[in-house]
Amino acid sequence: MDKIVIEGGKKLCGSIKISGAKNASLAVLCASILSSGEILLENVPDISDVRVMIEIITGFGAVAEWETPDTLRIVPPKTVNGKAPFHLVKKLRASNLLLGPMLARFGCAEVAMPGGCNIGVRPMDLHFKGLAGLGAGLSLERGYVYCSVPGRLKGARIYLDFPSVGATENIMMAACLSEGQTLIENAAKEPEIVDLANFLNSMGAKVRGAGTDIIKIDGVSSLEGGGRYAIIPDRIEAGTFMVTAAATGGDVTLENVIPIHMEPLSAKLREANVDVIEGEGTLRVRAGGNLRAIDIKTMPYPGFPTDMQSQLMALLSTVPGTSVIVENIFENRFMVADELKRLGAKIKVEGRVAVIEGVPSLHGAQVKATDLRAGAALIVAGLMANGKTEICNAAFIDRGYHKLEERLRSLGASIWRK
Ligand code: EPZ
Repeated sequence: MDKIVIEGGKKLCGSIKISGAKNASLAVLCASILSSGEILLENVPDISDVRVMIEIITGFGAVAEWETPDTLRIVPPKTVNGKAPFHLVKKLRASNLLLGPMLARFGCAEVAMPGGCNIGVRPMDLHFKGLAGLGAGLSLERGYVYCSVPGRLKGARIYLDFPSVGATENIMMAACLSEGQTLIENAAKEPEIVDLANFLNSMGAKVRGAGTDIIKIDGVSSLEGGGRYAIIPDRIEAGTFMVTAAATGGDVTLENVIPIHMEPLSAKLREANVDVIEGEGTLRVRAGGNLRAIDIKTMPYPGFPTDMQSQLMALLSTVPGTSVIVENIFENRFMVADELKRLGAKIKVEGRVAVIEGVPSLHGAQVKATDLRAGAALIVAGLMANGKTEICNAAFIDRGYHKLEERLRSLGASIWRK
């Protein structure tokens, strides 16, 4: 069942409800460790990355149970009795977000280094710079990072050389229980950062400025738990559905979205002559006639999201003319190009630049997903291609999308698991 098969050429039409955000959920699950009280998380996507994170925090002694298909009840651990083991951490890089909350709540943390992944080296120097700035001692031994602090972390002024999402999140979580005020300068501004800050404040933290490049955190002595909290919609899942609508010349309405979070993508799709119509918590995407070639540069939010880059590459592969993509965030995020070429795309990759010459059409083929978003891009391409496409390593796709093929079928796609 690790293959997805697509019979391409069908227009997608209809409406689809967008799930909660993977990347906000993973950070919020880590932040729940900071609390001593029970939490009810709503709009949590049931995807494999979330299930791995649940396995990791329950390994520390937390209780996490699905009350409904998208509501999680969490009882945080009273003490930490374990570490984030390598066999789980290697599946989920985001487990590095446990460092800050474990350090802040329990004074120590032991997390396997996630190591690199397919899209890049993924260093953690900015995470370590921030936690050390708050007074933590860190050491790396045998592939694990050990952190500890005698007494309490102390607020500090921390400048991030790059607006790293994960480093901003780790520092923000650790600072919530630090003594005094912490300033994070050149902070990441992604919507998931704002969602994490809102969750922390719902538990009694004092975080201000999330969403800007300066975040101020006034440390408190403890967090009592915040009752209910609803995760924001997933802007990358929403973007992926928008691209499938455009790629198949369809007409799809997305429900449960925050249009402003989609603006970097909506603007580029409009530039490519796709209709994107905003409603109350909805976006309608209609691709009429001829799409236009466009250029894309991935940047930190509110720039164009790197997590949508592969999907756009697939869409642009049959748009007449030359489109250019510059990937400024990760050093190895063009792997999907080789798979798209097996479907007939004409793409030339030089370092961080990919040049796409639009071809009249793609043809079905056997391809492999190399990472989560590359897998999503191959689904976009398979929906466009004439004939049958088989995508292996479909488990990559399940990391970030809940029942994607079932939901695409509801829009008219001919797609199934094999
Ligand atoms: C988050 O990863 C997301 N993952 C990624 O989504 C997303 O692509 C990325 O942010 C950028 O938006 C989660 O939130 C779980 P970064 P993260 O730290 O936090 C460099 C997906 O498909 N860097 O902002 O790891 C790093 O090498 C995933 O859903 C350092 O140099 O991203 C990269 O070039 C993929 N030192 C750049 O910053 C550090 O200490 C962006 O990384 C940390 C990062």
